[in-house]
Amino acid sequence: MKLADNKATLSFSNGSPSIELPVYQGTIGPDVIDIRKLYAQTDKFTYDPGFLSTASCQSAITYIDGDKGELLYRGYPIEQLATNCNYLDTCYLLLNGELPNAQQKADFENLVTKHTMVNEQMQFFLRGFRRDAHPMAVLTGLVGGLSAFYHDSTDINNPEHRQISAIRLIAKMPTLVAMAYKYGVGQPYQYPQNNLSYAGNFLRMMFGNPCEEYQVNPVIERAMDRIFILHADHEQNASTSTVRLCGSSGTNPFAAIAAGVACLWGPAHGGANEACLNMLEDIQRMGGVAKVGEFMEKVKDKSSGVKLMGFGHRVYKNYDPRAKLMQETCNEVLAALGLEKDPLFALAKQLEKIALEDDYFVSRKLYPNVDFYSGIVQRAIGIPVNLFTGIFALARTVGWIAQLNEMISDPEYKIGRPRQLYTGSPRRDIVKG
Ligand code: CMC
Repeated sequence: MKLADNKATLSFSNGSPSIELPVYQGTIGPDVIDIRKLYAQTDKFTYDPGFLSTASCQSAITYIDGDKGELLYRGYPIEQLATNCNYLDTCYLLLNGELPNAQQKADFENLVTKHTMVNEQMQFFLRGFRRDAHPMAVLTGLVGGLSAFYHDSTDINNPEHRQISAIRLIAKMPTLVAMAYKYGVGQPYQYPQNNLSYAGNFLRMMFGNPCEEYQVNPVIERAMDRIFILHADHEQNASTSTVRLCGSSGTNPFAAIAAGVACLWGPAHGGANEACLNMLEDIQRMGGVAKVGEFMEKVKDKSSGVKLMGFGHRVYKNYDPRAKLMQETCNEVLAALGLEKDPLFALAKQLEKIALEDDYFVSRKLYPNVDFYSGIVQRAIGIPVNLFTGIFALARTVGWIAQLNEMISDPEYKIGRPRQLYTGSPRRDIVKG
């Protein structure tokens, strides 16, 4: 960390001595005030529920400029990665800091491909679930369960174990997500096929069956790959912070990633894509585009508790760059499948148009986020709505691992342990009789 030229001075109105706090600069983005010694020096904590003004770590992986609507993985703009690279290049970049050269690319793809099968015993574990279990419940269990199958890569403090578990997780997530789907619909699991791309193999495991040859549609394959790239990492969001906090206790990497899957499930985070599509379908049932105005009035009425899902973001106060790319993919996929007149896509565009002109959304800087269009693409591909967040988890696994490994390799890292402002009863005694 680089010290800034200036320092922060904290003074108190009750005459307590003021203190100076160091300020650090990143390569881009806001400076941070170092408050690590604040408690020792003042006997006071800071108070920031929801981490609105708190940088929880230093990181060199992903950068978001929320005002510009910019997202960089290791310095590269998301638009360039989504256009020029595939998901496994992006994984290599996030894990290693640089894009792979031709040899590194071939070696990495080979390594991931050779780890796509899961222990045969996993399917018996899966069978313990009800067929109608939500795929995220199944995935939380299966990912956590990996630590019971791969004992040779569970020591988070061993760099080799971290490396092997990273490859295993990236390689096996598509297999697990597809297994969770096949189990729910009562079809046989498809073993991975190593001559296909990462996205192509996933599509075959999802939609193939033993009775006929599955042909990968290149437009769908590219769309799937792009969905993976756009979801690969996103700085210190709720699930990533969960993975870091969980891993900070020294637990094994599979357990830490399972914690991330659990956090992602919520509708304010990864569950928003499912919630957004359910919302679009509800409006469609109510009467479609004609009912958009009425629905928007409900959204603006705070007492209704209705939110425009797929809109708003803690960091982006301008258009989410992933949403633009996803809208582009949406156009491509719907055209390739002859679904240009898809009523939900028309509905989504109408909602977006109204929101972008409405003072409620404009004044609060609420724009579409990645989830606004990703559900429409996935639905067109044939992915069931309740699997959307599972696909997000698959793609985000690499980001979680890169962030976890960065934390563990940092000599300054400590177990995460926030403090609190206690507002409960002071000490009291039980009164007998
Ligand atoms: N619809 C209607 N009003 C909204 C929305 C929305 N989608 N999002 C925010 N607002 C309002 C909110 O009520 C508040 O109004 P006021 O200032 O009058 O109280 C104002 O905008 C600021 O919102 P906030 O809730 O304080 O912002 P936050 O940073 O705490 O929450 C958010 C961010 C993403 C949780 C929220 O915008 C939201 O719930 N959006 C819908 C769910 C969604 O699409 N989530 C996906 C996020 S992107 C994918 C991912 O990272 O997982």
